[in-house]
Amino acid sequence: MSALTDTIEVVLSEAGGGTHDTRVFRLTRPDGASLPAWRPGAHVDVHLPNGLVRQYSLCGADAQAPDYRIAVKRSPESRGGSEWLCGHARDGARLRIGMPRHAFGVDERARHHILVAGGIGVTPILSMAYALQALGQPWQCEYFVRSEADIVFRDEILLSPLAGKTHIHPALAPDAVRERMTGLLAESKADSHVYVCGPTALMQLSAELARGVLGERNVHMEAFGPAAPCGADEHAFSVKLETWGKAISVPEGKSVLACLRDAGHEIGSSCEVGVCGTCMMRVIEGEPDHRDTYLTDEERMAGTHFLPCVSRSKSPVLVLASEP
Ligand code: FES
Repeated sequence: MSALTDTIEVVLSEAGGGTHDTRVFRLTRPDGASLPAWRPGAHVDVHLPNGLVRQYSLCGADAQAPDYRIAVKRSPESRGGSEWLCGHARDGARLRIGMPRHAFGVDERARHHILVAGGIGVTPILSMAYALQALGQPWQCEYFVRSEADIVFRDEILLSPLAGKTHIHPALAPDAVRERMTGLLAESKADSHVYVCGPTALMQLSAELARGVLGERNVHMEAFGPAAPCGADEHAFSVKLETWGKAISVPEGKSVLACLRDAGHEIGSSCEVGVCGTCMMRVIEGEPDHRDTYLTDEERMAGTHFLPCVSRSKSPVLVLASEP
């Protein structure tokens, strides 16, 4: 987690473009100075007054602009993050944010960029679309939403130069989404890259179809939710740290991260749902049971890295090193 000393104070104000369950905020420095530059696809840690830290994508049109913009969807399963921002945040509220982090973004090797967004997953995709448009790169965007009422940034997209290359699909059934993705991938060039952000089902479907056509290296994903429900198919095991031979028991229903901390080991974390990579550790021995959405399939198969906030172990003992 970004320590509070490494954070920047910002003032929150309402920005347009939200929906019935999504609010869009502008973040500015209290003294009007510029916030650090970022690259499209970046996100920041937002430190909330209730002590929670949540990640939100920067979704402005200009990565050099002096302020940031984020969009927050109220989640029915909110653990307090979206609930505070959507329900309690007022204009003028002061928060702290971390520096922009770049785990997702445009791949410059691509000759054609296919952006795929589902619902609030449009936030990093929008900044990438603006950047590709400004660079004159070939791109298109498929934006899937539950209904017309759920189109975040609707007017902005439809009234901007992005409109001609953005295809908005309200209320498409899963079979129709598959058909659309299959069709556009069949027509794609070999050096196309696909970028997906949205609900797990859309990400899995799009990534599976895109990998089959374009290969693993050409598929990029960003997730902001847990991959597997907590407690899914769990059993107890032990972990050891490379530098500390004593075995630490990890019971069913408790994360490796929590067990390591209980044993006195300080491990940095941020999202604690397997999406940000902050807690990443190196695997020295044993077979991880990956439950995150951060590692790529290639990294999972290599079995060299592990996210202790959500992942577990297939082997009875997992030996880890804290340096990634
Ligand atoms: S804290 Fe974010 S992946 Fe573990």
